[in-house]
Amino acid sequence: MLRTHTCGELSKEHIGTPVVLCGWVDTVRDHHGIVFIDLRDRYGLVQVTIDAAVSPEAADLSHHARTEWVIRVYGEVVARPDDMVNARLITGEIEISGARVEILNQSPTPPFPLDDVKAEKVNEELRMANRYLDLRRGSMQAKLALRHKMTHAIRSHFDSLGFIEVETPILSKSTPEGARDYLVPNRVSPGTFYALPQAPQQYKQLLMIAGLDKYFQMARCFRDEDLRADRQPEFTQIDMEMSFVEADDIYGVIDGCLAASMEAAGHPAPELPLPRMTWEKAMNEYGSDKPDTRFEIKLNDLSGVFRETSFKVFSSVLESGGVIKAINAKGLGAVPIRVIDEWTDLARQHGMGGLAYIRVQEDGTWKSPIIKFFSESEQEQVKELMGIEAGDLVLFAASKRSVVNPFLGTLRLHAAEEGEGIIPEDTFRFTWVTDFPLFEETEEGGMRPTHHPFTAPHPDDLDLLDSQPLEVRAQAYDVVLNGVELGSGSIRIHDSTLQDRMFQLLKIEKAERDSRFGHLLKALSYGAPPHGGIALGFDRLAMLMAGGETIRDVIAFPKNHKGIDLMMEAPSPVDQKQLDDVYIQLVLPDRDET
Ligand code: AMO
Ligand code: AMP
Repeated sequence: MLRTHTCGELSKEHIGTPVVLCGWVDTVRDHHGIVFIDLRDRYGLVQVTIDAAVSPEAADLSHHARTEWVIRVYGEVVARPDDMVNARLITGEIEISGARVEILNQSPTPPFPLDDVKAEKVNEELRMANRYLDLRRGSMQAKLALRHKMTHAIRSHFDSLGFIEVETPILSKSTPEGARDYLVPNRVSPGTFYALPQAPQQYKQLLMIAGLDKYFQMARCFRDEDLRADRQPEFTQIDMEMSFVEADDIYGVIDGCLAASMEAAGHPAPELPLPRMTWEKAMNEYGSDKPDTRFEIKLNDLSGVFRETSFKVFSSVLESGGVIKAINAKGLGAVPIRVIDEWTDLARQHGMGGLAYIRVQEDGTWKSPIIKFFSESEQEQVKELMGIEAGDLVLFAASKRSVVNPFLGTLRLHAAEEGEGIIPEDTFRFTWVTDFPLFEETEEGGMRPTHHPFTAPHPDDLDLLDSQPLEVRAQAYDVVLNGVELGSGSIRIHDSTLQDRMFQLLKIEKAERDSRFGHLLKALSYGAPPHGGIALGFDRLAMLMAGGETIRDVIAFPKNHKGIDLMMEAPSPVDQKQLDDVYIQLVLPDRDET
């Protein structure tokens, strides 16, 4: 080793020890003939002092050193004078009295300060273009280390339960997870393409057919879709599948996996089993299939209260089969009108005529443009059902259930953010959402699977498959943390005839069924065991454990919102020869078309 110790490990116990240290110059300054260098590596920061009167050569070299130069220091650990002790540094009680310095490498001034506080204020794209510099920061390295610790705990968890980690192909075939595929042209058979896996879904089912019984994988997945804070074109799943199980068994294994991940990340393990609610309850009470259960604001159905109402907006909605629902944004009675106006705009964007509200004054009186339409009994019932107290703000939405629920679901999040302390800090609230519908309607009036086409219908709903497919529940579940969808899974169809019927219900023609799914149908016919599984978004889990706002924080080399790796400048054009090799001719759009 070029060093005897790391910069972060030295303390009082080392006083008197001769050391050789390597690292980056964090800062360098001269104080009356003494050069002070803060030397940094992955393990921490230590102060080096070089006295020009004692070691003139070392002091001279150090004068030349600049921030981010790489140096090697020979010296001895000494106690700092009492008045120089730095309690904020682990190494703050000591310093290195440097006798010799070697410059190992030089560096131009970095394009942004590698100081945790200052760097956070710098444009993220600049940091991404120089990711190797950004990753020198302690807080960034801590996130990668946390991710590593979690990976380690997760692998141990699955291993201890008898799961086998299997690597599945990256050069693969298109599988329907709902996004566009990344394609890889094939030189050997002109005009054919591999697809990068959106998930190892079919492989893991095939492994169950192969008798593996318990599979898991830290699996890379690739999806060409619109990117957001919690979406990258390539990401990692904690992917698992088990044979001879019911949904409950999957919940048990994942509960343990999440508890182990929490502990590995330094958080207290949650109480197990993690709570569960049906999809229907999530939609009705939280207006979302990924309910944030950290705070109590819930959707209340007031349709019954207003059955006889004289308020036209409400009565006409009820006549046409819609619902009146409301949330009580506790303590927000005094929000500025400007905020209510913004929320009213949001209601209009959701297709409603406006947003009715009651602001409850500190003396308990109600201020509201619609209260004049409410009878005394209606007011009493609203007060009772909504638990109204002084200072509250009640917000009403009237429309079709499918409009009201997601709107109030969004509004409860806005309201929670508007109020002080409504969302508790450093709190982790998991919930399972169960019994998703098997299908959802597409914009064109067709149907698509809510999860994916391999998901088994609920056994009690099988006879509705042809007559009322949209009413059929799936044996599908999500696990949600603080309002973020962490993972999705299901019990799968293991019967080849039912799987084929599923493809038919989805209007996939025979020829396409054979070409895209023939292998799976055939495999299912060879004694496929009942099986099920789930995949968790590992980046999302790591982000939440690290207290981050975006998964880019916990990915060493992420892509920007356009899917570009700014550091490598990928994607990029390739040579004509490379295109010729794979029989590809480019027909590029005009500049302004893209
Ligand atoms: P699904 O498509 O729901 O299910 O994906 C599972 C989880 O993966 C995470 N995720 C993503 N994370 C980052 N960037 C993305 N672009 C991205 N897309 C998805 C989410 C999501 O909940 N094969 C099925 C699982 C199964 O049925 O077992 C699947 O992939 O956290
Ligand atoms: P209008 O009769 O359109 O002036 O509406 C009377 C009140 O009801 C106003 O405060 C509107 O913002 C509100 N309002 C209108 N449509 C809806 C709706 N679909 N849901 C809830 N409130 C509404």
